[in-house]
Amino acid sequence: MRIIATENYDAMSRQAANILSAQVIMKPDCTLGLATGSSPIGTYKVLIERYEQGDLDFSQVKSINLDEYVGLSPEHDQSYRYFMQHNLFDHINIDPANTNVPNGLAKDVKAECDRYNKVIEELGPIDVQVLGLGHDGHIGFNEPAEDFATLTHLVDLTDVTIEANARFFASANEVPRQALTMGIGTIMQAKKVIMVVSGKDKAEIVKKAFTGPVTPEVPASILQMHPDFVLIGDQDALSLL
Ligand code: GLP
Repeated sequence: MRIIATENYDAMSRQAANILSAQVIMKPDCTLGLATGSSPIGTYKVLIERYEQGDLDFSQVKSINLDEYVGLSPEHDQSYRYFMQHNLFDHINIDPANTNVPNGLAKDVKAECDRYNKVIEELGPIDVQVLGLGHDGHIGFNEPAEDFATLTHLVDLTDVTIEANARFFASANEVPRQALTMGIGTIMQAKKVIMVVSGKDKAEIVKKAFTGPVTPEVPASILQMHPDFVLIGDQDALSLL
């Protein structure tokens, strides 16, 4: 694993955007694995700027998102589909047909997971997977568990996650209790994985995930074993390493 230490959130975002930009330039029809949350928003802003300047072309790029809340429609302003449209897709020339987010409204969850796994199989392996880090060590919505889940599956969100994500909803009661998430096996199969982390509140979990034992109790810890994993963090998030 490689660590890129940056001064602040903006510098972290530029470093992550550099890796993604290089990928899009070197392989215009690449498959990007994308994440939501506050951590990658700055990265997406830099990509949008570079697209607007004419330096990036997303017309052949394919994207596969990590996860989606169960029960939220694509139009709901807290759904991850809405997040991606608003923070990236609507501002670049990616073909909407090439963007993939799990369907949180699917009646048949098992069929939706199977469908998503097929999409991943067709478009994968992912060239670069972007990740954030949950306060309990989750990646995507792979919460602490007894095993590392391999494929797309339904998860019950932990109290820590519901609490952390409540800031985006009117109250914690409105945060969905379940989500669909890409599995850790799929994430580990990505050719390159980059994680953006920022802020003092992530320092403790960063230390636990990347200097502690590899265990499904801290899902991100498996990334220690990935052959091409880059942790990009600001000073605060990396302060305990
Ligand atoms: C959510 C998402 C994750 C994200 C995490 C951290 O629960 N499912 O993909 O990495 O939160 O979010 P943030 O970057 O806002 O701290």
